[in-house]
Amino acid sequence: MPLLDVRNLRVDFRTVAGIVHAVDGVSLSLEKGEIMGIAGESGCGKTTMALAVPGLLARNATVPGGQIIFDGEDLISKSEDEMRTIRWRRVSVIFQGSMNAMNPLKTVGSQIVEPILLHEPRTPRREAEARAEKLLDSVGISKKRFSNYPHEFSGGMRQRAMIAMSLACGPDLVLADEPVTALDVMIQAQILELIKVLCSELGLSLIMISHDLSVLAELCDTLVVMYAGRVVEHGRSADVFREPAHPYSARLMNAFPDIYGERVFTSGIPGYPPNLIAPPVGCGFYERCPERLAGCESTRQELSETSPGHWCSCLYPRRDKEGGGIING
Ligand SMILES: Nc1ncnc2c1ncn2[C@@H]1O[C@H](COP(=O)(O)OP(=O)(O)O)[C@@H](O)[C@H]1O
Ligand SMILES: [Mg+2]
Repeated sequence: MPLLDVRNLRVDFRTVAGIVHAVDGVSLSLEKGEIMGIAGESGCGKTTMALAVPGLLARNATVPGGQIIFDGEDLISKSEDEMRTIRWRRVSVIFQGSMNAMNPLKTVGSQIVEPILLHEPRTPRREAEARAEKLLDSVGISKKRFSNYPHEFSGGMRQRAMIAMSLACGPDLVLADEPVTALDVMIQAQILELIKVLCSELGLSLIMISHDLSVLAELCDTLVVMYAGRVVEHGRSADVFREPAHPYSARLMNAFPDIYGERVFTSGIPGYPPNLIAPPVGCGFYERCPERLAGCESTRQELSETSPGHWCSCLYPRRDKEGGGIING
């Protein structure tokens, strides 16, 4: 049984302009100990997907359909009280931008102690503090910094502290939303290495979100590519990188920053993702796709297996074109 099994999840946001279909039928499944990457440009629904799992969606969100089966139980049907016992203890989140996620008025140490005391109220404070110090140590922060405030930390250290905080209650699953995006390349590499080591030492399952594929390349076992609220491709990380089957994934790879060049997402893909208030009838990438063909505009293709364990939602997956298969005859 997978640890997390998201089935046909839909998340809408009510806005004055209309209903935003931010997540539009996403399914994915994560085994225990697996590290999964979720890639896609900004606005594709990655954060919404991740926040739905621990029940942290914004107030204007509704979930009109789908299931989030975690360890055999559907989280969608749980009450807020029940979710509170699951959050941090079983599923924790490393948020995008640690400065906003941390309380500027409290010491870093106390912010790690707090969730421990909240979720395990019988733990003596001294013991919780000792655990917090050990956690800080495991992310490479000296216990001398326990009483520092977040602004006294560098961006990299704050992100390390966020990681320590997310691990405070010994979760089974960690969702990391763009955990290194704001950091410079050297620090990014250190934090990614830290995450990798912690995952293997603690047997954690991790979902790592990034718009930057180079961040996911090394770390992840499996990769999911999202576009316009849907999964367009998933498979083993190496397979998706070597042979992206969806034209969108392939473009995302080309936008891959060179290790010697610009780190930022420079080349990009011309055009913009579609308006999620009125999503396209057919393929979401149609407007921008240089490889579009007959039928793409009107057919909403479901995921199908292009090679063992490799799934893609393009009507004309790239393998067919390059291999002279269906398309080129
Ligand atoms: N609270 C909200 N209210 C209205 N729209 C939202 C809200 N949060 C996200 N969205 C919209 O949902 C879509 C997906 O956003 P998001 O999940 O943040 O994407 P990503 O993390 O991939 O950048 C976007 O169109 C975004 O504008
Ligand atoms: Mg996001």
